[in-house]
Amino acid sequence: MQELRHIPVALNRCIDLLSPSIEKAIIERGVAIVVDATLGLGGHTHALLAKYPSVRVIGFDRDLDAIEIARKTVVPFIDRLTIVHSVYDQIPDVLENLGIESVDGVLFDLGVSSMQLDEAGRGFAYSQDAPLDMRMDQSQGLTAKEILYTYDRGALIRILRAYGDEKFAPRIVDNIIEAREANNLESTKQLAELIKESIPAPARRTGGNPAKRTFQALRIEVNQELAVLERAIPAAMSVLAPSGRIVVMAYQSLEDKIVKSYFTKACTSTTPRGLPVDLPNSAAKFEFVITGSESATEEEILENPRAQSMRLRAIERVAA
Ligand SMILES: C[S@@+](CC[C@H](N)C(=O)[O-])C[C@H]1O[C@@H](n2cnc3c(N)ncnc32)[C@H](O)[C@@H]1O
Repeated sequence: MQELRHIPVALNRCIDLLSPSIEKAIIERGVAIVVDATLGLGGHTHALLAKYPSVRVIGFDRDLDAIEIARKTVVPFIDRLTIVHSVYDQIPDVLENLGIESVDGVLFDLGVSSMQLDEAGRGFAYSQDAPLDMRMDQSQGLTAKEILYTYDRGALIRILRAYGDEKFAPRIVDNIIEAREANNLESTKQLAELIKESIPAPARRTGGNPAKRTFQALRIEVNQELAVLERAIPAAMSVLAPSGRIVVMAYQSLEDKIVKSYFTKACTSTTPRGLPVDLPNSAAKFEFVITGSESATEEEILENPRAQSMRLRAIERVAA
């Protein structure tokens, strides 16, 4: 595996957002528990464990390569990190198995890591030639190639449109079907070439690499990213102790929309409008810590271009 320069996104801001609930728990119970739902290369977890000697982190990742790197990154504090190879919608079950009733913070840094994008062979990047895999967890599930070879035309068009907003989905999919019938679709390079040829020349001149949208759509389908996130946000809210916080960084609008929708619902009273006080059990159980969303600073984007599309949201549990 190559050496990687990894810059965790919005590192200080995320730690600052989690700090009040961590510090309160440490004062009250002597220890705080945080779930890092996307351990990745261990950047945020390392900073949390270094700053707070009384914090214990439960770190989830579905990628065994990431886990191996994180284990090394966090070596000085490894006794306070429990690593879990699992999809993050399993948070409640995993915590129950660990005998943990509730946690003081949950951090989601969504999407793929710089390692997954840079590692030749994983198939996430259209700029590198690799087998069409794209699985974050290479130990299970359908690869991108299996999806391209087995889904019918309608399903492929729907995926490219819904997850990639791809205007030329039918043309791309017709070419995919022709290529798969000739058994000639094996690599990211072949797919990127095929996409380029499917898109009319004038449309190719704007909007960056024409393969970007199809690769994003396939990645979302391969890893069931949106369906998992739909389950994971309410799951994370359900394990949060009073005053606990959830902090989420999303890098594409489909994910951010899901987060925004759950957070808004959780922070809204269900008392009908116009009543002077909340009806019993209808007051919102969460409050926004950030109104709306935050972006990375210009300075950070210059240093780490991946931060450009990041949207940061955070809420706090205010009632049991
Ligand atoms: C952006 S990286 C996290 C980087 C990390 N915060 C750091 O500073 O090193 C996202 C990580 O989340 C993992 N991941 C993405 N979706 C996941 C899911 N549904 N369940 C568990 N892990 C997931 C990916 O494998 C990847 O390693």
